[in-house]
Amino acid sequence: LRREALAQLQEVADPGRLNDLRVQYLGKKGQLTEVLRGMGGLSAEERPVIGQVANDVRAAIEGVIAEKQAAFDRADTERRLAAETIDVSLPGKAGARGGIHPLTKVTQEIEDIFLGMGYTVAEGPEVETDYFNFEALNLPKNHPARDMQDSFYITDEILLRTHTSPVQIRTMQAANGKTPLKVICPGKVYRRDDDDATHSFMFHQIEGLVVGPNIRMSDLKGTLLQFVQQMYGAQVQIRLRPSFFPFTEPSAEVDVTCTQCGGHGCRMCKHTGWIEILGCGMVHPKVLEHGGYDPKEVSGFAFGMGVERIALLKYDIDDIRHFYNNDLRFLSQFARM
Ligand code: PHE
Repeated sequence: LRREALAQLQEVADPGRLNDLRVQYLGKKGQLTEVLRGMGGLSAEERPVIGQVANDVRAAIEGVIAEKQAAFDRADTERRLAAETIDVSLPGKAGARGGIHPLTKVTQEIEDIFLGMGYTVAEGPEVETDYFNFEALNLPKNHPARDMQDSFYITDEILLRTHTSPVQIRTMQAANGKTPLKVICPGKVYRRDDDDATHSFMFHQIEGLVVGPNIRMSDLKGTLLQFVQQMYGAQVQIRLRPSFFPFTEPSAEVDVTCTQCGGHGCRMCKHTGWIEILGCGMVHPKVLEHGGYDPKEVSGFAFGMGVERIALLKYDIDDIRHFYNNDLRFLSQFARM
C-alpha cells in the first residue's frame, strides 16, 4: 500500500489530483483508514505491531502530500507575483481635479480681509422670520421699502431671507450687550427677481456689523477703503453717496473707481469712472435697541455687499448666471487661480 501510494503521489502534477489521492488513502473511506478499522479483529500481540506499521505508512503519505501541497502553493504564489507585476515606469493617469468655486473663493478672500481686521464670522438661517428679516430692522408691516425686496413667503410670518441683515439682529442679541462687536455674515439670500445677466432669485451677500462706544462714520469709511484696496489694489479709491436704508441712518452707497479702466471711463462703468459695490450706514437707534443695546451708550456701522457683484468686477465676468450653471469651461478657469 505504501509503495503504491508513494509511487502515485510522485507523479501528481496538479492540486486536484493530489486531493483525490489524499481522499483515496486517508479519507473516511480510504484504503489506509480501512486497514486501521480492521484492527479490531486482530489478536492482542498483532495489534501494536500492525498499528505501528499503519501509523508509519500514514505518516509517510501525509509527509509526501504536505510536500507536494507546499510545492503547488509556492508555484501558485510565483505565478501570481509574475502576473501582477506593476511597471512603475508607466506614465500615470491624471485624475480630474476639482477646484474651489469662484464665489467660495471670493467669499473666503473677503472673510480673510476682515478676519485680518479683527472681525469674526457669523451665520444665520436662510429661512427667516418676518421679525428678523424686516421688523427688527425698522421695516414695520406695510413699510413701502418692503417692496424693494420682493420676497418668497412661506407663511405670513416666515420667508426666505431677502438679505443678510437679519444676522445683525441675531448676533447683537447673542452678544448680550457686549462690546466691541465686529462680525461679518456671509450667506445666501433670495428675492423674487426674473433671472437675467445681473439678477438671480438667489445670490450671496456678506454683511458687516460693528457696535461699540464712539463708532463713527469715519470708521466705516476707513474700514471700507481698507477692504477695497486689499480686494482690488492699493490704487482704488471709494466715494460715498447719500442713500436710504430703513436700518441705517445716515445711509450711503459706496462706489469704487472702476476696476476696469481705473476711473478714466469705459463701457463697464458706463463712462462714469465709478462702480457701485455696496450699501452701508450707521446702525439705526431702533435697530440697536432691537439688538439689546442702548443707542445713547453705543453706536455702530453696518454694510452689505453682493458677493456675485464683487466677483464679477474682480474677474470681469459678463453674466451672473455663469456662477450657477456649473459649466466646467467656466469653472475650470478658477480651479488653479
Ligand atoms: N441689506 C441691504 C441690502 O440688501 C444692504 C445693507 C446692509 C445696507 C447693511 C446697509 C447696511 O440691500
